[in-house]
Amino acid sequence: MRRGSLLVDHIGELVTNDGRDGDPLGVRRDAALLVEDGQVAWIGSARDAPAADRRIDAGGAAVLPGFVDSHAHLVFAGDRAAEFAARMAGERYTGGGIRTTVGATRAASDDDLRATVGRLRAEMLRQGTTTVEIKSGYGLTVADEARSLRIAAEFTEDTTFLGAHVVPAEYAHRPDDYVGMVCGPMLAAAAPYARWIDVFCERGAFDADHTRAILACGQAAGLGVRLHANQLGPGPGVRLGVELGAASVDHCTHLTDADVDALAGSETVATLLPGAEFSTRSPYPDARRLLDAGATVALATDCNPGSSYTSSMPFCVALAVREMRMTPAEAVWAATAGGAAALRRTDVGRLTPGARADLIILDAPSHLHLAYRPGVPLIRQVLHNGVPR
Ligand code: NIG
Ligand code: FE
Repeated sequence: MRRGSLLVDHIGELVTNDGRDGDPLGVRRDAALLVEDGQVAWIGSARDAPAADRRIDAGGAAVLPGFVDSHAHLVFAGDRAAEFAARMAGERYTGGGIRTTVGATRAASDDDLRATVGRLRAEMLRQGTTTVEIKSGYGLTVADEARSLRIAAEFTEDTTFLGAHVVPAEYAHRPDDYVGMVCGPMLAAAAPYARWIDVFCERGAFDADHTRAILACGQAAGLGVRLHANQLGPGPGVRLGVELGAASVDHCTHLTDADVDALAGSETVATLLPGAEFSTRSPYPDARRLLDAGATVALATDCNPGSSYTSSMPFCVALAVREMRMTPAEAVWAATAGGAAALRRTDVGRLTPGARADLIILDAPSHLHLAYRPGVPLIRQVLHNGVPR
C-alpha cells in the first residue's frame, strides 16, 4: 500500500471513457477506484478493492471524469448584463460588445483580472470542471494580451492567444496593420505564455486571408491551432481549420455539407458551445448531423461576459441533450473525453490507470441525471489531481 493512497469505493456507476466493448462511456457497475500520486492507479470491482490509507464511500453514486472545458474567455473586466437584457428584448448579437469588454479589461489592474479568473475557476471546479482552457482576447494591445496570458497561465496549462478576437477601435481603418502587429510584436510577447493560437474567423472580425496568415505565424512560433468559426453565419472558418490541422474548430453553428464532411474526415474536433446560443437566443448547432457523419464532438462553456456568461458544464450537457439531440451519453462523453480531444490531451477526460485523478462524485446514481435534473447542483464532491476539493 503506497502512502497517501485513496480508495473511492461503492461506485454505483463508474464512467471511465475507456471505449471498451463499443460503449464509449466505458461504464462499470459496482466499481472502486484507487488514487496514488494524483493518478488513477487501479480500477476494478468493489469487492476486489485493495486497502488504502483513506477511503471515500461513494454510497452507490455515479462517478465521472472531471469535465474538460476546452473553450473559455476568463480574463476580462466588467459585465454586459444590460446587453444581455437588450437581447432578451429582441436585439441581435453581433459581437460588437467585445469592444466594451476590451475597454474595461485594459483599465483593470492585474489583481482585478486575477481575482476574476480565480473566482470563475473556483466556480467551475465546484461544478465539476477540473481542466479549463483560458483565452486572452480582451486586451488587444501587446502589453494587455501578454498580461492576460501571463495571468491565465497561473491557472491552467491550456492558455490560448486570441489577439485576433476583433480589430480594436484604434486600428478600425487599418486591419492589415493590426494583423501585422498580431503576427509580430504581439505574438512574440504572448507566445511564452501560450500553448494555442485562436482567431475569431467571422464576418465583422477576421476573414479567411487574415485568419490563415495569423494561424500560420502562430504555428511557426510553436503554438497549436484552434479557431472560432461559423458562429454567426456560414463561412470559410471550419474548412480552413481542418486544412490547417486545427485541434478544434469551435461554435460550428452554421455548417454546410462540405463543412460537415471536412470535419468527419479529419482529426479536428467540432466544439459546440450551446451556452452561446442560449444567451444570444440563436438556433443551436446541429450536433446530431455532426455525430451521424462521424465527426468528434466536444462541449464547452465559452464562458465570457458577452455571449455566454455561464461556467457550468452540467448546464451545457443539459442543453446539448434537450436542444441539440445528443444522447445523455454522447453529451457526457463530449464534455469530458471530447474536451480532452479538443485540447489533444490524453491525461484527462478519462478514468483509466495512469490518467490524472480528476473525478466527480455525483449526487445521483447515473450520468443520465445531469440532463434529467437540469439546474440542480448534482456535484457532490470533486477530486482534482487526486485531492478532494
Ligand atoms: O466565443 N465569438 C467570439 N467571441 C466570444 C464572444 C465574446 C464576447 O461577446 O465578448 C464567443 O462567443
Ligand atoms: Fe469563444
